[in-house]
Amino acid sequence: MPSSSYPDVMEKLVSLCKRRGFVFQSSEIYGGTGSVWDYGPLGVELKRNIKDRWWNAMVRARDDIEGLDAAILMHPKVWEASGHVAGFSDPLVDCRNCKKRFRADDPKIKGTPGTPDAQCPACGMKGTLSEPRMFNLMFKTFMGPVEESAAVVYLRPETAQGIYVNFLNVQQSTRQKVPFGIAQIGKAFRNEITPGNFIFRTREFEQMEMQFFVDPEGDHMRWFEYWKEQRMAWHRALGLTESRLLFHQHTPEELAHYARAAFDIQFDFGGTLGFQEIEGVHHRGDFDLGRHQEYSGKKLEYFDQPNNRRYVPFVVETSVGADRTTLAALVNAYREESVEGETEGRTVLGLHPSLAPIKAGVFPLVKKDGMPEFAEKLAGELRTRFPVFYDESGAIGRRYRRQDEVGTPFCVTVDGQTIADGTVTIRDRDTLAQERVAADRVGALIAERVSA
Ligand code: GAP
Repeated sequence: MPSSSYPDVMEKLVSLCKRRGFVFQSSEIYGGTGSVWDYGPLGVELKRNIKDRWWNAMVRARDDIEGLDAAILMHPKVWEASGHVAGFSDPLVDCRNCKKRFRADDPKIKGTPGTPDAQCPACGMKGTLSEPRMFNLMFKTFMGPVEESAAVVYLRPETAQGIYVNFLNVQQSTRQKVPFGIAQIGKAFRNEITPGNFIFRTREFEQMEMQFFVDPEGDHMRWFEYWKEQRMAWHRALGLTESRLLFHQHTPEELAHYARAAFDIQFDFGGTLGFQEIEGVHHRGDFDLGRHQEYSGKKLEYFDQPNNRRYVPFVVETSVGADRTTLAALVNAYREESVEGETEGRTVLGLHPSLAPIKAGVFPLVKKDGMPEFAEKLAGELRTRFPVFYDESGAIGRRYRRQDEVGTPFCVTVDGQTIADGTVTIRDRDTLAQERVAADRVGALIAERVSA
């Protein structure tokens, strides 16, 4: 894996995210819940903008993909068919001395767990690590009022299975013809042994998944290549720096036994984390539909009317984490820089304007001479088109800096000249250039730049 030439900004980002209301630790007042995070007022906007970009590109802009919102709780047999009950496990070792738990393949463990020479990476004791045992990552719960007699159900560890079991429902209700896809965004849960790196690996997260159904006797490999390229282009269009993105092809050891090909899209998170997967593009053959057919006893075949053929389609899957993409966007955007003629530098989130939680800050230069009234009215008008933050307190430079730090691409200032001729200045977050425009053109101008 190529090492990173980008700095590690994670610690600074975690602090900025809390201070400015992007991401908070879950249940913080009780000491926090392990690797579960809450999105604050700015974070929820940022993540929603990312999900909207995905939904627009994958569902709304296409006539060959349908949307779905399947339930989190599913029939327990789904997870037997999918292979998650038997195989969705990680090897776990315990330290008998300090009671800490690790993945058996944790690179920090020296020696072979279960042998006297193995050393615990936490307390440093030798010979205290247990033999590895398999630990299923699915969260179990009970359906029904009486725990003992109720059915065991699982919180879904991926959204994809909701798509497979609805394959024929969607196909028949929409009269789609193969090739076509089904897409959904939703929560998934994994009891990860080694979560961490902020919102990179968490126990509750959101996935954006699309299963594309193709003819097994047709050009399925061409569709696989098509989706690889489409998905990489999507990440670039979000503003992720090209040199921080790459494809990683699964080696034969990494490739699932049923998969015909698999690539990850990796992003360089900087520092020691470096390049990590943010999305998987997988050619899954007919494994999933085939297994659900077998376990449910129901046919999941597509009927190709013109050719009078019935078959179980192959699936090309694209699966991306909403939280992980949010983190990539934040890491990519974070920068500290000096400003000419000023002693204090500035922190900027150079987010793509379409992702920025707030599109415009609106400020009266001073709190007198009719400027606040004009600015408040303008902010109200702009707010009907996009999120706006009105701020009249403190020096204008400080107000600019506060917006830079949360990624607001434009700041509109009402000054003495506004009252005379109805013009305002628009300051660009990245170039710091200020242009003077008529106040009644500001909404259209910013809307145009945000969607560009
Ligand atoms: N249906 C295929 C599937 O779930 P995956 O590689 O296990 O494949 C796909 O997950 C994506 O979901 C990952 O690339 C990542 O972005 C996200 N993801 C997986 N586990 C995660 C976790 N514990 N925390 C945050 N995101 C996660």
